[in-house]
Amino acid sequence: MSSEEDLPRLEAIDFGAIYRREMREQRLAPKPPSAWDGRASGYGCGPEAAPRGAGAGQGVGGYVQAFLSRLRLDEARSVLDVGCGPGTLALPIAMRVHEVLALDNSAGMLEELRRRAAEQGATNVKTVLRAWEDDWSDLLVADIAIASRSTLVDDLEAALHKLVAHARLQVCLSYPVGGSFVDPDILAVVGLNPPRVPDHFLLLGMLHRMGIVPTVELLHTPSRLAACTDFDTFANRLAWSTGPLEDAATARLRAWWLADTARAAKGGRPMRWALVHWNVDEGAGR
Ligand SMILES: C[S@@+](CC[C@H](N)C(=O)[O-])C[C@H]1O[C@@H](n2cnc3c(N)ncnc32)[C@H](O)[C@@H]1O
Repeated sequence: MSSEEDLPRLEAIDFGAIYRREMREQRLAPKPPSAWDGRASGYGCGPEAAPRGAGAGQGVGGYVQAFLSRLRLDEARSVLDVGCGPGTLALPIAMRVHEVLALDNSAGMLEELRRRAAEQGATNVKTVLRAWEDDWSDLLVADIAIASRSTLVDDLEAALHKLVAHARLQVCLSYPVGGSFVDPDILAVVGLNPPRVPDHFLLLGMLHRMGIVPTVELLHTPSRLAACTDFDTFANRLAWSTGPLEDAATARLRAWWLADTARAAKGGRPMRWALVHWNVDEGAGR
């Protein structure tokens, strides 16, 4: 047991390095672009977007509305959306500002975004095939920089610095809370213990070291496993997070799925996100 004198001062704790170590030790490899390509066409439109029986504000729509409502769009002409996916936020934002730069490293996601933009007549969204880790020095510095559900990267500290350098007014991002994308009860059924996502507390520590005091809120989205119409869809969606399931685990999961249809329809507890935002122009510093 260390004495109080031995404890490190807050300023001495390198939260960015702790995060990088956890990602490495947990062998938590962010999904490659090819994995996201395969999910592009139905993304955000599937049953998990609006689970059966969900009340207003309970689907992904509630999350999107909450995210949008925190943005200073009335003061902004331009928005950079990092890890934009098929335009979940970029497209509604495009209706409110002059220009949106939508960045993603999945060509499939950007193609889907362009398809949806054309369908909606949104001509002010520019797509960039680029990764968090690439050089951004030629990219627009926007009024607002956002990253929604796209912040699980190897080096979160570097990502934060990039967002700050590309925003004039505000940064807004969301980061997973609770260490896992799947309800621990369901993981227990299949007997798996996947790598833990570093805690959002580390993100707040990194911002503290950068002299930033953000607003932090908790948002929910339905479980990705919610409202599956058949067992195979449910098992495949789980395997996206856990990797392939063995036959015995699949059999236990099937028994769990069949035992309680209401429980199965929920797909476990909702996903929790820390919505973290701060003003860049007003010196959100300590
Ligand atoms: C969960 S989706 C989120 C999409 C959208 N922002 C939303 O909230 O619906 C994550 C997105 O981040 C993208 N992504 C993942 N890693 C990335 C990286 N290293 N660089 C750029 N984009 C990345 C994926 O291709 C995917 O489109």
